[in-house]
Amino acid sequence: MPRLSTWTLSVLPLLVLSLAYLAQSYISPLGPAPHLGFGLRWYGVTFSSLVGHAQAFVMSPLHALSKAQPGSEAQAPLVPQHSQIIDSGVPVEAVSEAPSEVAVDTAADVDPRPKFKRRIVAVGDIHGDLLNAHRVLQMARVVDEDGLWTGEVDVFVQTGDIIDRGDDTIALYEWLEELREQAHGMGGSVVSLLGNHEWMNAIGDWRYVFPSEIETFGSISARQKAVTTGWLANIWASNYTTAARLPLHGLLGPPNTDYPPPEDSQYVRANAGPLSHAAFSFVHGGLAPSYPNLQPFPSAINNISASLLHRLRSRDPQPPPHPPHSYPGLPVGTTREEARLYGSDGPLWYRGWAEENEAKVCAQVNQVLEKTGTRRMVMGHTPNLHSIVAKCGGKVLIIDTGISHAYGGVLSALSVEYTLEPVSSGGWREQEVVKALYADQDDELLAHATRDLAGNELL
Ligand SMILES: *[C@@H]1O[C@H](CO)[C@@H](O)[C@H](O)[C@H]1NC(C)=O
Ligand SMILES: *[C@@H]1O[C@H](CO)[C@@H](O)[C@H](O)[C@H]1NC(C)=O
Repeated sequence: MPRLSTWTLSVLPLLVLSLAYLAQSYISPLGPAPHLGFGLRWYGVTFSSLVGHAQAFVMSPLHALSKAQPGSEAQAPLVPQHSQIIDSGVPVEAVSEAPSEVAVDTAADVDPRPKFKRRIVAVGDIHGDLLNAHRVLQMARVVDEDGLWTGEVDVFVQTGDIIDRGDDTIALYEWLEELREQAHGMGGSVVSLLGNHEWMNAIGDWRYVFPSEIETFGSISARQKAVTTGWLANIWASNYTTAARLPLHGLLGPPNTDYPPPEDSQYVRANAGPLSHAAFSFVHGGLAPSYPNLQPFPSAINNISASLLHRLRSRDPQPPPHPPHSYPGLPVGTTREEARLYGSDGPLWYRGWAEENEAKVCAQVNQVLEKTGTRRMVMGHTPNLHSIVAKCGGKVLIIDTGISHAYGGVLSALSVEYTLEPVSSGGWREQEVVKALYADQDDELLAHATRDLAGNELL
């Protein structure tokens, strides 16, 4: 009888586990055919990295996260993996988010508090153009040349208007669902917002739908089913929201942690402490100062959004699309709050931050940031074909540059690099570097903010 060595017995299970883990990370539920990169990656996986993966997976206090229920991705805590912990010399998978729990070199001259780093990329209106969307995401290092999640970005945010004015609707939403899955498997997140054009289609307003795009669905009725009660409506209902609040540091909670947090939330202290308001808001149109449902942010908006979306998909029969039929409007029974969400000062259509003069905008911005527990607000919707627009020292960031060939604007992405590092005298230094990245012109620094936090405690 051949006897298995202890070595084999200990390594084989790790190998099997790691293969399962990798497979889970790379296999996508929607992808009809694996990308080219799928095969290539396997050849690049060395034996030692497999064992490393398996060990990290088995030992990591975080691995339970990868078993999160489908659809709960947006609630999964952001954890430092890959590049977030710098200079600490600790394998990142073994590092917990709370700086105080990290086991490190105890040599006297090494500050035991690790540096925290998070990289966020946000992209505005894509409007049916897969090729340009891919160019932008590759340029911003969200994906590689095969369109696969690189792991170099912690959070990718898309601020809505993927549909209309182009033909690639189906491919774009499928690709983004694949990225969501890949990101999740690598400790990252994709945050997806509904734009006014997603809502128009859910309502039956097809004024900006290209006839050639309807053909990609097969027929008018197949398309109508997809956007009201079918696969695309399901994606919107489960993985898209109308507003997002993205904390810059995990201590403040996962994406869409409310501000103010409910009294029983574990994030109450952090959101009132030195890191309070270290978060960005994202909506498609804008958060008008006059809009009544700014708090708690973003759930007040997202609950109204979910109930209106549900009301729309429950219409039976669905009204025939406009044009050629008449505009169906919002369903019978729509509440006043729901109608206002879709109104001109609601988060989907508001253009005040983009269109009003800077003095007026800057006089209003702090009150909205204060209410929403954020430092900067990011939005799409109002295109500027030459550049991302920053107002009030980058408190207002308007990122729709007309990426789609329907507009022919510049290919851009917003990049945010947040770091929180210990300073030797005690305390911490926070830094936000906000940049506009361009495919065909020089990148531009939009804001560089540094804050010193006295005291060692972040909570
Ligand atoms: C939403 O995202 C999750 C996580 O990636 C995925 O499992 C689920 O299938 C998505 N929902 C839909 C309707 O595609
Ligand atoms: C939003 O809906 C959730 C789930 O129904 C609920 O727990 C929460 O209290 C609601 N929040 C607001 C602000 O309405």
